[in-house]
Amino acid sequence: MFRGLFLGINNKTMYTGLLHTHSSLRYVVLLLLVIVVAKSMVGLISKKPFEKTDEKLTLWLMIATHIQLLVGLILYFVSPYVQFGANTMKDSITRYWTVEHSFIMLIAIVFITLARTSTKKLTDSKAKHKRVFIMSTIALVLIVMAIIMSGRGIIIPVRA
Ligand code: HEM
Repeated sequence: MFRGLFLGINNKTMYTGLLHTHSSLRYVVLLLLVIVVAKSMVGLISKKPFEKTDEKLTLWLMIATHIQLLVGLILYFVSPYVQFGANTMKDSITRYWTVEHSFIMLIAIVFITLARTSTKKLTDSKAKHKRVFIMSTIALVLIVMAIIMSGRGIIIPVRA
């Protein structure tokens, strides 16, 4: 129903715009994620204090990821690869875009959100760096894995 509604309001232009936005935002998410993982690892090893910059980076990462979630959710209802038919699970492409992509990315988004929210309660810098490092690394692995599974390319988008 939602798909029909969105496609009714607009069409291919909306889909293409959303896909490009979502596709481009991946670079922002991945870049911030790599910086957060690297910075928390250095902070942990060198026993550095958890600074304002570390806080800001986890916040920016969470905001970028939540925008990505929002765009992904709208895209979900306009993408021709998201289908709810009898053959959805039999076809690896429709199964990936209908179930696997959103499921894996949602788990990654939960970890990124927890990396920000759960560290706020901690007082010790080492514990904060450790928490951010573990949560963000899991998220990074999940996101990279999901993009590899899509066959669309991590750095350069590959379109069929
Ligand atoms: C960190 C979160 C996410 C990242 C990094 C991400 C990344 C990507 C990438 C790289 C693509 C391929 C774009 C291209 O072909 O150029 C894509 C497509 C897509 N994503 Fe996500 N995504 C995320 C979250 C989500 C979520 C949560 C949903 C759904 C609820 C979603 C739904 C979709 C859909 C429907 C497509 C389009 C398939 C198509 O029509 O070609 N994404 N995403």
